[in-house]
Amino acid sequence: MKIAVLTGAGVSAESGLSTYRDNNGLWDNYDPMEVASIEGWYKNRKLVLDFYNSMRAKLRDVRPNDAHIAISRLEERAETTVITQNVDDLHERAGSTRVIHLHGEATKVRPENGVYDDTFSEREVIDVGYDAVSLGDKAPNGSQLRPHIVFFGEAVPKLGIAADVVSEADIVLIVGTSLQVYPAASLYSYARPDAGIYLIDPADMRLPDRRIVHIRAVATEGMKQFVKHIWSDNQQ
Ligand code: OAD
Repeated sequence: MKIAVLTGAGVSAESGLSTYRDNNGLWDNYDPMEVASIEGWYKNRKLVLDFYNSMRAKLRDVRPNDAHIAISRLEERAETTVITQNVDDLHERAGSTRVIHLHGEATKVRPENGVYDDTFSEREVIDVGYDAVSLGDKAPNGSQLRPHIVFFGEAVPKLGIAADVVSEADIVLIVGTSLQVYPAASLYSYARPDAGIYLIDPADMRLPDRRIVHIRAVATEGMKQFVKHIWSDNQQ
């Protein structure tokens, strides 16, 4: 059995990381066009570097929660791939071995003058862990280091590979995303007609597809219900 798990900020909320669009979320306190867009980067690189420096510093202090761990344990029973919009490293730290970061990774940087597309070489990416990056910190090719993040206004190079994973899955599990940012929000639609599609999210959401089974719970509780449901179904 193959499972594709699509995650958003909600899966990390119980670890203590802010979501983006909930009350008092990151976008209530920062303007995404200033700190997370390509225009914002060229307008004020220091502001953008500082935003991701503080996110990195915060990551050092948090731990994966039971939802990340339950997702990693799906690998024991099924071929599982996590496709995450999150830039944190909590899926990897929980033990997931196949993780596709659609929107990049906060713990990594790359030269600002490189091209990030289908031909992009991960060799240009530098893992800085939880350390700060300053204006003037240069890549080996002499250009300013920028966050390894897909900014608003930039393409999503991993979309194709993510769509392939979803299209091959028997089960598509969506956890903790408001499904408002495209193209990530439309990935579930690549699911096979006979695939089971589940959404774990505590919000009362308008579901974009009648096939989606909504488990209305926080991620840790929802994962317990999901695991119980699919493994008991498959034992029948
Ligand atoms: P959002 O902040 O838009 O949505 C978070 C979702 O998590 C909401 O639907 C909440 O109801 C849900 N949620 C909150 N607490 C939860 C919990 N404990 N368990 C489960 N779900 C919970 O975050 P995303 O959908 O991930 O992109 O946002 C998508 C993208 O928008 C991000 O990747 C980021 C942002 O701009 C970039 O920065 C490129």
